[in-house]
Amino acid sequence: MNFELTISPINEIDSSLELILIVKKNLKHDFVQNKKLLKKAGFKAGQDETCLLVEKNKLYVGLESINDENLRTAMAKAIQALNNTQFKSLKVATYMESEKTYHNIRAMVEGMLLGQYTFDRYKSKKSQQKLKEIVFSLEEYSAFEVDMEEAASAIEMGQITADATNFTRDIVNTTPEDCYPKTLADIAEGLADESELNCNILKVKELREEKMETLLAVARASRHKPRVIHLSHKPKDAKVVVSLIGKGLTYDTGGLSLKPSTSMVSMKLDKSGGAAVLGIMKAIAEMNLPIEVHGFVGAVENMIGGDAYKPDDVLVAKNGKTIEVRNTDAEGRLVLADVLGYAQQEVKADYMFDFATLTGASVVAVGHYTSSIMGNGKKPKKLVIDAAKASGELASILDFNKHLGKCLKSNIADISNISNTPYGGAITAGMFLDEFIDKENKKKWAHIDIAGPAYVEHAWGENPIGGSGAGVRMMLRLLEKLASN
Ligand code: BES
Ligand code: ZN
Ligand code: ZN
Repeated sequence: MNFELTISPINEIDSSLELILIVKKNLKHDFVQNKKLLKKAGFKAGQDETCLLVEKNKLYVGLESINDENLRTAMAKAIQALNNTQFKSLKVATYMESEKTYHNIRAMVEGMLLGQYTFDRYKSKKSQQKLKEIVFSLEEYSAFEVDMEEAASAIEMGQITADATNFTRDIVNTTPEDCYPKTLADIAEGLADESELNCNILKVKELREEKMETLLAVARASRHKPRVIHLSHKPKDAKVVVSLIGKGLTYDTGGLSLKPSTSMVSMKLDKSGGAAVLGIMKAIAEMNLPIEVHGFVGAVENMIGGDAYKPDDVLVAKNGKTIEVRNTDAEGRLVLADVLGYAQQEVKADYMFDFATLTGASVVAVGHYTSSIMGNGKKPKKLVIDAAKASGELASILDFNKHLGKCLKSNIADISNISNTPYGGAITAGMFLDEFIDKENKKKWAHIDIAGPAYVEHAWGENPIGGSGAGVRMMLRLLEKLASN
């Protein structure tokens, strides 16, 4: 999609179709044209309601009120209303909420690109969007002065953010036959080839040398060998250093503690944390933020077989702690234990964030659309919550507590990989990871369980069926904020 920005009044723009947003309470207002036709079509200007008046070359979209969230979903629905139409170009005025020019325009751009997303890699008939151009007019409707430079930057940042989110969605939606650990490593190397990012890939030999034995145990039964990916963005004189760590389980069968068949369906989603880290690194390079960012991905497939790791095994993690395996389906935390250890060894970061589809319990706790945020330090958690809100993602804090922590005790090893109680599973998983965070980093780290929003089998807001790209938008906002401080 090509975006253009002009100060010409909307009527002077040569474009086949005009998009008009109507705030519900203004539907009867004098300035609304085509009232009779809209009434006939049953258009009530409810949030996300669309009405295409083809003969008038106008697409009407309803809004409850003007704010980022409403603009984002309204734009997503507007673009979807044009699926299968022949319109090539769309013109739209800017709609502003007091001084929030930048955020409102960015939300509109993100909504359009996120709403336009389709995944048709496996369809014989590919979807065909004719719409190729959006022209924003800064002249009309807006009661506020709009700065051209600010608007242009909002469009650019919105485009980078949405493209990275869609890039992550593509990875998540790809089948385990087409996306296995090496594929994730190839994608990372591809990103490094196209940008200034550096890329280092650890294969089995290096993983052994690095003593990442818990990760190797999880990977053992798969015909696809594991990889650990390290991408880095290192501008000169960076003020802040951030490490991002992603769970990249390209498939999770549960291992010998095999998942029931219905729960296994969709477990290609288990690479969503790793896919989010790749998407974020892509965007960071494009934005060229003046902060140092490292992306680590533990890319592994959890399978069954004669060589599979077993319940009752005791594994030694990179940091030397011993882990009693009581359930091979709690594999993400084992992989992350070692990747967290490796990330801390390689980079002395000011902040560390991990992304993982870690527990079904997170989905039970906060529902499908929300990520659970955990950790010991208030600051990183608050940064995530604030950034999520600004970005259009949902996030809630789940507090650690010492009573749940005790449920991870093992009789035979330093810690068990599952809790001895069935409740609070998102928190006990987070507290398990905490055991692999070095003392000096305890308050620098936050864990983001994206099991709820990463992959949903229905469309919601500006998100499609399947991979949503959870984590990408929130973390980009967070990194942008750190870069601007
Ligand atoms: N990948 C799953 C978690 C998951 C479940 C993500 C549903 C998205 C949707 C993870 O590896 C897992 O299987 N966790 C177990 C942990 C349990 C064995 C303690 C779970 O949540 O049931
Ligand atoms: Zn699992
Ligand atoms: Zn898993």
